[in-house]
Amino acid sequence: MHSQTHSIPHKPEDQPAGDEPLVTVRLTVNDRPVERVTSARRLLSDFLRHELGLRGTHVGCEHGVCGCCTVLLDGRSARSCLLLAAQCEGATVTTVEGLSPDDGGLNPVQAAFRESHALQCGFCTPGFIVTVTEFLRENAGRTDFTDDEIREGLSGNLCRCTGYQNIVTAVRRAAELMEREG
Ligand code: FES
Ligand code: FES
Repeated sequence: MHSQTHSIPHKPEDQPAGDEPLVTVRLTVNDRPVERVTSARRLLSDFLRHELGLRGTHVGCEHGVCGCCTVLLDGRSARSCLLLAAQCEGATVTTVEGLSPDDGGLNPVQAAFRESHALQCGFCTPGFIVTVTEFLRENAGRTDFTDDEIREGLSGNLCRCTGYQNIVTAVRRAAELMEREG
């Protein structure tokens, strides 16, 4: 995989226009029930960031390409920029904030990213943390990943800074930490 040289645009704040149809959306987000009246066209990514204040979910391309906005939707990774909040009625959403321990510490994936210097600007990092969490859940108990397996597993997430090798190292390290924790 090649590193990205283009810059990922940061999305400005946006608000639904006053004349947009409204819907009531009920979700479970990071283990808490949420109910909001919002625009029927509100993206899940904007709903999380602007209505729930969960700004750990980053928005880069808004076209399903960069993976920055990845969350777990009913336990599976999903690009929140490609979903309407209203589409997710009744679903369970986990954002990067919901993956962190309640004591404010780091989970094994986050600890491995820090230890392995797997981030620079950090814009892509929440999306990677979510994707790696799913990848390691699907491969629970394994620590013998090849670089190619890891790169394939993370191929939907783009990073413009790191060149990816330290991210690959972090995934292997996270697997070791999780194995050690049992
Ligand atoms: S913001 Fe790039 S995939 Fe969603
Ligand atoms: S985009 Fe900067 S660390 Fe990945």
